[in-house]
Amino acid sequence: MELDSLQALYVEELKDLYSAEKQLLKALPKMAKAASHEELAASFLEHARVTERQVQRLERIFADLDQSPRGKKCVGMEGLIEEAQELLKEKPEPEVLDAGLIAKAQHVEHYEMAGYGTVRTYAEQLGLTKHAELLQQTLDEEGEADKRLTALAESSINLEAAMADGAESSEDSSNNRSRGRGSSTRTSRSRSTSRAGR
Ligand SMILES: [Fe+2]
Repeated sequence: MELDSLQALYVEELKDLYSAEKQLLKALPKMAKAASHEELAASFLEHARVTERQVQRLERIFADLDQSPRGKKCVGMEGLIEEAQELLKEKPEPEVLDAGLIAKAQHVEHYEMAGYGTVRTYAEQLGLTKHAELLQQTLDEEGEADKRLTALAESSINLEAAMADGAESSEDSSNNRSRGRGSSTRTSRSRSTSRAGR
């Protein structure tokens, strides 16, 4: 399709989100399986159910537009899921893995929130009020999922991960920090600074 109008861009972005949700639907049960913390595993499974409804909402919108939802692969979501797979391959301590899974899932939620916020606004501007309402519902659900993950991280999971770190000798953990984690933090910090400065 030629991208010659906001309507065409709207459909493209919706296809991207459809692909993102479909990919996430496959990844969430695997993330639930990898999680040790019961509530975290349950929240991934619950979000899989929510995601099914979000897919259906998109299908309703595509039916209304008389368009197919297929034909585009969301490479952004593909990359985010790949990052989660890389984390699993590193075989972290279970508590650390849980904290890491939350981090990956929150990247996913924020990515989706950006996408849904955009298409919701396009729908409003195109006068597609019903679409805007449906997309807002999904946007709200992604925001709720994000908040639940923050609550889980702050109430227990990050603390458990910190304790897993403390179980090593203090010499070990300071070595770990200076070996790589510290420098990667610095890199990402300077990168985000340059991004903010643009
Ligand atoms: Fe979603």
